[in-house]
Amino acid sequence: MKPAQKTDCDQPNAIEIEGLSFAFGKTVALRSLSLAVPRGITFGLLGPNGSGKTTLIRLMVGLLLPQSGSIRVLGATTPHTLSRLIGYMPQLPALYLDLSVEENLDFFARIYGLDRGKERRERIRQTLELVELWERHRDPVFRLSGGMRQRVSLACALVHKPALLVLDEPTVGLDPEVRVGFWEHFHSLARNGATLIISSHTMDDAAHCDRLAFLRMGDVIAEGTPGDLRKAAGRPDGSLEDAFLYFVRRGAGT
Ligand SMILES: Nc1ncnc2c1ncn2[C@@H]1O[C@H](COP(=O)(O)OP(=O)(O)O)[C@@H](O)[C@H]1O
Ligand SMILES: [Mg+2]
Repeated sequence: MKPAQKTDCDQPNAIEIEGLSFAFGKTVALRSLSLAVPRGITFGLLGPNGSGKTTLIRLMVGLLLPQSGSIRVLGATTPHTLSRLIGYMPQLPALYLDLSVEENLDFFARIYGLDRGKERRERIRQTLELVELWERHRDPVFRLSGGMRQRVSLACALVHKPALLVLDEPTVGLDPEVRVGFWEHFHSLARNGATLIISSHTMDDAAHCDRLAFLRMGDVIAEGTPGDLRKAAGRPDGSLEDAFLYFVRRGAGT
């Protein structure tokens, strides 16, 4: 699937972040974080609960504004103006439970500016086929299981073929078969030129990403391909959990 819109920037990176900080009152969520995400890959934000993943993602999609530092998304410093280029799947599905699956997609497709009529209906059908829910398109969302709702939520983020997809813990609670299916979609979107940012707190997901940033207490403690990170941790054949713990201990000076 090709992104519908081209961006006007030639930079190799989809996202560039320098010294980004954000606090909720006295709670510091991000501490002078810097990160670059190359285009056309699946990029994982891996970290435990409370490490700042959701806050970082909200800044990437323009729902929060930086308190200090800078963020550039697809060449723009104002991500909120790029909604047609960005697909965002929030951590908790934001769906209308009383509306049908198809009506939910239609709502998001209109928000993202998909043209009226036949073309939009066709695109909704394609997207629901992709997440294997077309046969449920007339059902109200309240009749669907949790995993199915997550697939609807993913479809809502995909429907306008965004150049950048930002998915906040999209695989939580999915059964293994659906999880594998999600990763197949993610890789196929990246092969077709989209950039995907995917947050997770499980290392199962980490191994699927082209590149990863390990987050802890609002900062990036390591960044690279899964292989690079294992090597840098001195355990090329070890697990990514071990690599994460290595970087945590190194940061703590132990
Ligand atoms: N709306 C909010 N109000 C106050 N504190 C918040 C809010 N959202 C997040 N936080 C705090 O910011 C920190 C980072 O949270 P979050 O970005 O949600 O992490 P993650 O997504 O990695 O679990 C945590 O300490 C969390 O309690
Ligand atoms: Mg979160």
